Amino acid sequence: MPPGGHGLVGREWAPYNDQAKFAGPPHGSGPAPQGNTVIDISVDELIALDQAHLIHPLHNPVGHAQAGPVILVSGQGAIVRDAHGREYIDGLSQLWNVNVGHGRRELAEAAAQQMSQLAFASNYTGQANIPAIRLAEKLVQISYPNLQAVFFTSGGAESNESAFKLARSYWRLRGHPNKVKIISRRWAYHGVTLGAMSATGMSAYWPQFEPRVPGFIQVAPPYCYRCELGRTPGNCPIDTAEDLEQTILREGPETVAAFIAEPVMGAGGVIPPPPEYFPRVREVCNRYQVLLIADEVITGFGRTGRMFALHHWNVQPDIVSFAKGVTSAYIQLGGIIISRELAEALRSLPPDQPWMHAYTYSGHATACAVGLKNIEIIEREGLVERAAEMGARLLAGLRTLESLPAVGEVRGLGLMCGVELVRDRATREAYPTASQIGARVIAAARQRGVLFRNRGDVIMMAPPLVITAEQIDRMVNVLGEAIREVTTT
Ligand SMILES: Cc1ncc(COP(=O)(O)O)c(C=O)c1O
Repeated sequence: MPPGGHGLVGREWAPYNDQAKFAGPPHGSGPAPQGNTVIDISVDELIALDQAHLIHPLHNPVGHAQAGPVILVSGQGAIVRDAHGREYIDGLSQLWNVNVGHGRRELAEAAAQQMSQLAFASNYTGQANIPAIRLAEKLVQISYPNLQAVFFTSGGAESNESAFKLARSYWRLRGHPNKVKIISRRWAYHGVTLGAMSATGMSAYWPQFEPRVPGFIQVAPPYCYRCELGRTPGNCPIDTAEDLEQTILREGPETVAAFIAEPVMGAGGVIPPPPEYFPRVREVCNRYQVLLIADEVITGFGRTGRMFALHHWNVQPDIVSFAKGVTSAYIQLGGIIISRELAEALRSLPPDQPWMHAYTYSGHATACAVGLKNIEIIEREGLVERAAEMGARLLAGLRTLESLPAVGEVRGLGLMCGVELVRDRATREAYPTASQIGARVIAAARQRGVLFRNRGDVIMMAPPLVITAEQIDRMVNVLGEAIREVTTT
């Protein structure tokens, strides 16, 4: 039975076949298998129902249909399997988040155990639950030495909203009510709720929803390959945070509450900073009493080869936003970890004046129980070190693709890498947008059994930290084949 055929119902989990090449039709009419369970509906019917009733993130019904949507049903380690039984390397850990890989029964058991004990326990003032208390303590231990306390959310955007609101309330409590502005960077991604969207620096996210929240300002990112100032590394005011400093001075330091940055920019195209960047950002923030918010929604929990990424540059933030990898995506959870000073300010609130910020599911016991078990797995299996080791292999592999004329730049840190494709390597001229090179490379890789994601013509990858060396090599080979196919035909 060829891959993509319909004879897979009830088949045992098959180990990943390195030779597999998935040239079958995008979807067919056979019943959809799920592990060993037969689902009583065909893939075609599923897709029809999806198109009738399901609104997707970044929704576009035509694009969705053209892609021949992949309906994933099971996974193991770095491999996922679709409703046809086709297997793929999960080259982006879905949305940069399945850090410990798929198929972890321990995490399912942690959730089941907690759910059978208690449906839900509010975490509003006056109540608490044991997993939330334990996970807060653990996060303080494994993040940065200056951090002290945790507020939980259900995802990344909620975490950033919480960070912005905390920054504003902190400065009010400290007698600086005008310190309200939030500075972020172009190409940043911080989520798409209104406040988070206003900090997100990818402008495509704005026009359908304008106006943005006032008081959000963007500065240039350290995107050296496409420097906004046309400078070279080592000679650039962006890299030394002078640009950030000038912006703070122009706005008035007495009006700026915080600067938010992803340690390695993710959705904007995997952009690691030059080494001097974050130490200089920290200095500038200190000089003007601006809080530094590290958005570690992607980079947290081992992704870059450190448990949290600012450790690469010995920098401590005032607030860390986290989500995704805290539970390896087995269940929704996010939050902020805040400095001793900020925690102290919250403690100084008068008894009749709560911090008026809340979510029903803040500190959900089941999510926190899964988070605790997930961190236990990351530590027990040495997955942070593994991300460093496999990341080095991935980056070295991708560098071999630099011989292809369309590969403009290969960059990355740990298991978070990007390959920027260009029409002319010498001038860095981009392909015309209409040629959709990045999207076509992604589609060609998918046909060969690897899932990547693109931002324009940047191919982005962040596989599970458990990925094997052989799977890394396969990702690189497939990407090379896909680039060749798309850029030479
Ligand atoms: C760095 C970063 N921050 C925030 C978010 C938003 O997270 P969520 O989609 O859970 O709201 C994302 C999502 O990809 C992200 O990459």
